[in-house]
This record gives sequence, structure tokens and C-alpha cells, in this order.
Amino acid sequence: MKPTETESSPAAAPVRAPEAVFEKIAVTIAEHPAEACRQLAAGIRQLIERRQAEGRQAVLGLATGSTPVPLYRELVRLHREEGLSFANVVTFNLDEYYGLERHHPESYHRFMCDQLFDHIDIDPDHIHVPDGTVPPDEILQYCQDYERLIDEAGGIDLQILGIGRTGHIGFNEPGSTRESLTRRITLDRVTRQDAATDFLGVENVPRFAITMGVGTILRARKIVLMAWGENKAGVVAEAVEGPVTEAVSASFLQGHGDATFLVDRCAASHLTRVRAPWLVGPVEWSAGTAFRAVVWLAQKCAKPVLKLVDEEYNEHGMSDLVTERGGGYPINIEVFNRLQQTITGWPGGKPDADDSNRPERADPYPKRVLVFSPEPQDALVAMGGVLERLIEQGHDVRFVAMTSGSLRVRDEDALRFCRVLLELSELSGEESWGGQEREAEKLVRLLDGKAPFSEDPQEVRRIKALLLRGEVRDACAVCGLARQRVLFLDLPFYERGRYRRFLSGPDDVQCCVEVLREFQPHQIYTTGATADPSSLSAVTYGVLESAFDQVRPESWSQDCRVWHYRCRENPYQPHEISMAMPLSPDQLERKARLLLGFQTISKVELAVCDENRDLAAAYDRLGLAEYEAIEALQRRR
Ligand code: GLP
Repeated sequence: MKPTETESSPAAAPVRAPEAVFEKIAVTIAEHPAEACRQLAAGIRQLIERRQAEGRQAVLGLATGSTPVPLYRELVRLHREEGLSFANVVTFNLDEYYGLERHHPESYHRFMCDQLFDHIDIDPDHIHVPDGTVPPDEILQYCQDYERLIDEAGGIDLQILGIGRTGHIGFNEPGSTRESLTRRITLDRVTRQDAATDFLGVENVPRFAITMGVGTILRARKIVLMAWGENKAGVVAEAVEGPVTEAVSASFLQGHGDATFLVDRCAASHLTRVRAPWLVGPVEWSAGTAFRAVVWLAQKCAKPVLKLVDEEYNEHGMSDLVTERGGGYPINIEVFNRLQQTITGWPGGKPDADDSNRPERADPYPKRVLVFSPEPQDALVAMGGVLERLIEQGHDVRFVAMTSGSLRVRDEDALRFCRVLLELSELSGEESWGGQEREAEKLVRLLDGKAPFSEDPQEVRRIKALLLRGEVRDACAVCGLARQRVLFLDLPFYERGRYRRFLSGPDDVQCCVEVLREFQPHQIYTTGATADPSSLSAVTYGVLESAFDQVRPESWSQDCRVWHYRCRENPYQPHEISMAMPLSPDQLERKARLLLGFQTISKVELAVCDENRDLAAAYDRLGLAEYEAIEALQRRR
């Protein structure tokens, strides 16, 4: 019998990429989300144009959240600048909060109009977003109709997805079955927490939503799940490499014939091929890779670095490293020393000390230091201890609140303040209070007349910003920083925008250029390089990066070091840290008290003190000294 082609020809055997041993869904890792979105948008364009040529409709399944924002911007650009028409496009959105009117500022319907539908030539009758106002007794029928409409449109050609931190797609929270269809669900605590900033407090986030089911999504012919930023890394790895489970509804995509995860480097960072490439295939053992691998190995074996033995190296894909270096023990010592050298109580460098193995140079002393904070409290959350130390050690520090933070301040807090003003003016009864009284009365009127979650009038934003200003000055004072050393840039993009939809411009960059030129810092502390590009910290980071590019030719910039902290992303792990600053029990307590001074501080932000403790425990387990808590920084070149 003539052998079939697959039996005879080695070329016909499917070539499995080495990472496929771990990855059960195709993953494309893009350098940057913008690049990934350009490629995906080009694919969508092809689909639409092919269908146009055939006289047919293209059916898109769409998602909301920060993740698809750059994709929608690119689609709008293709329409505006390259004439792509959406006249033959039909869309079905995944989900909607239950209880929100379609015009509610936080409804997904409104989001889609703001981000996409209002800027393209789609026929409004072709748009489908689940209705969050269907009466309870009609929900079942409504959801069945939604399914039917998808089928009548010919099924979804391409389903775009994001992923929630609980691993959900759409709003299919843990427990959703593979067969689930469009229905009303109860939102998970983590999901509601993630939406808390949009709704000014978790208590305002709706408890229910209507969502397409996992089964509905799996019927799409092609699926692309996008994820950006460090925060998604854990859940991406779980969905791609973990078991198929109702606990992570995105894992059901493993059973779809044409599903791809499109991720940036940060969101890919927990995949085995990135996190532990030595398990996947041969690696080049640079000093950096060896360091990462040994810290990983010690954590994996739950042992201090200095106690690792050759067998453990061999059993975990690192035998070639041991051979290359003539045994594991010299590597243990090298890695231990490097970890040890990250620890310092002198974040600005120790004057007159040998600095060859210290994270920061000794000279110049004192240093000019700029601490950039996206919203006023962010840097205090992440590096309140470091800030205190820098000031105590005599450096010339400026705290730069990049945005006013007014979006964080609740109406109730602004109202309470205005009412105090009114009480005071009534008590004092002096004429000089007349102006303030009128102002306070006007603010109360504006706040009382405001529709829930609608945009604040300028005056309200200003008073909210001022409330936060007072709080941040007080918090900085606890760290020893004089009030006049706190700068407020009030970057314009923030005043124009909403969370997830910020768009910075040259005016923002100019504000930062001026600060950099004026202070010519030796050290900059900043955040957001590995965050989702639509997040506030990523937008402010982009602004600062562009500003730095402008001043790069100036000689002082050559002598400026940039240190990175993390505020809303996953905390740094020991192998990622270039400076670990220990906090004493007293210092940690001061930090907690300082954070409690912010009316707007959230539970998640307060949990940073536990994270600081956990990191100290992780250093301890690796065999280093046992501290109460540690704040971590990474040097960026
Ligand atoms: C919500 C939406 C999902 C989205 C997820 C992640 O839960 N229902 O569709 O994928 O948020 O949002 P983001 O992209 O903002 O991280």
C-alpha cells in the first residue's frame, strides 16, 4: 500500500513550536500594543473589503474596556484617512452593565459610541449592544433574541475579546460553563473592584450585567483575545497554559479551532517561554538570564539561593549553565551577591562610600530628585518610604503630581467641604465671607444638580483638585517634604478625559519639559512603562518619555538616572528589582498612616503595606536578611 503523504514525508508532520508544549492556544507576542492593533485592524479591513466585494456583510463581535481602545482608534483612522467604509458591517457587543441606561456615561453602549460608532459610517441599525434596562421578567426572552439575531446575521466572523483579571471573557465570571449563552449574571468582587475608579467607588459599580455566554463566543468563526500590560500577565498564562476550567472562562478558548491571543511583551511575561525559557529550549546564558533563572529556581525549590545543589539545576533545564560555569555553587554565590547588592537604605546613593556595587552612585551629593506621580497619591503608595529617606538624607527633592487627581474625588467629599464653608460663613457672619459663601452655594447647586457619573463642571473639578492638593501636601509633610516642594502640573489631557479614554497631546509634554529643564534632575522616579497603554500611568509615562526625548541633547540629562516604581501593576518580583529599600516597622506604620490621610485611598492601595511585607518575606526566603518590609524600584536605561 502506498503510504499516505503524512506517513511518508517528514515535512508534512506538523512542526510544533517548542513553546507549544506549554501553550495550548496560539499566542502572538507584539512589541507594542499599537503595532499589534495596526495588524489586527488591517485584518479587519481585509475582511470588510472582501465582504464588500462579495456584496455581503461582515459580522464583528466587539468588546469594551481599556484593551480595545487602541484598536478602535486605528479603525477610526482607517475610516478617516484611508476611506474604509463600515457600511456593510454588523456588530454585536459582548456585554452591558445591567441597570444602566444606554446614555449613562459608564454604559458600554456609550463607550462604544465614544470610541468607535460615532466616528465611522456604520448603519445604527447594524449595531447591537445588550440593553441594560430590560425589565427582569423580559430578560430571558431578550437574551434568546440576542442569540437569534447573531444567527440571523450569519454568525460572528471575528470576535474581539479582552480578558478580565478573573480570567473572564465578556462578563462570563468564574463558574460560567462552556455551553452558557447570553444571560444576566452577577459580577465578581474582583471585576467590580477593577471598575471602581470608573464609578468613583466600588459601591457604585452595578452588581449585574448581561453578557454573551462562553458558548455564544465559541460559535464565532475566528477569535482574537487581546491583552496588554503587566497586570494581565498572570491570567493570560493561566488561560493559555493552565487546564480548561470554568474558573477561568478564557481557558475554554483552548477548544476553539481558530483562537489567538494577541499580547504585548508585558502581558506575555508569565508565559513559560518568557518567564522560564530554559524549560522550553536552549538559552544563551547571559548574566541577566542566569540571575533570573537562579532566583526562579530557588523559589521553585523553596530554598535559599546558597543551598541550591547541582541536581536541582539539572532537573529544571539548567544543566548547561552548571556545565558552563563548572558547578552550581559559584553561581549561587554570584546570584546571592547580586541580590544582596540590590538592598540599600540610601536610595539617593551613599555619600563618600564605595559605590561600585551599590544600586545608586554616591556623587553628586546631594542630588536633585524629581518624583513623578500620575495621580497625586500614586508615588506615596508605591515609594512613600523611599521618599522619606531621600529627604532625610538631604537630597533636593520635588514631588511632582502630574494630574490633579480630581476624577478620584467623590461628589460627597466635595459637598461636605462646601457645606463646611457655608457653616463657617454663617457662624462668622462677616461681610468678607460673602464671596466664599456665594462660591460654596454655587458648588452645592452644581453638585446637587449633577446626573450620576456625568462630567463635572470646571468649578467642581477645581474644588475636587484642591481637596486632593491639601491631602497630598499633608502626606508629603509626613515624609518631611516642605509644602512648596510639591508641584502640581495638572496635565491638560486629564482635565479633558475620563479613565480608559485619555489622549495626551503636545501641551502635556511641554509641561513636563519645563519641569525637567528647570530642575535638571540627577534622579527621576516614575511609573507606567509596563502598564496597559490606556491606563493613566501609561499615558503619563508616555508624556514624560516624550518630554525626556526633547531634553536628551542637554548635557545634564546624561547624568540623570531613571528609577521606576509600580503602583497599579503587579508588584516587582525579586529577579526584577534593581533597588530594594528596607522599611523598619515604624516606617511602615508611618506609611500606612500617611495613606489613610487620603479620603480617596482605596482598599487595594492600602494593601500595598502587605505587599511591602510580602516582598521582605520573599527576600528572606531567598536567604537574605529578614526585614519588616521592602519597597522596590527598577532602574530603566
Ligand atoms: C470587563 C469587560 C470585558 C473586558 C474586561 C477587561 O470585564 N466586560 O469585556 O475584557 O473588562 O477590561 P480592560 O480591557 O479594561 O482590562
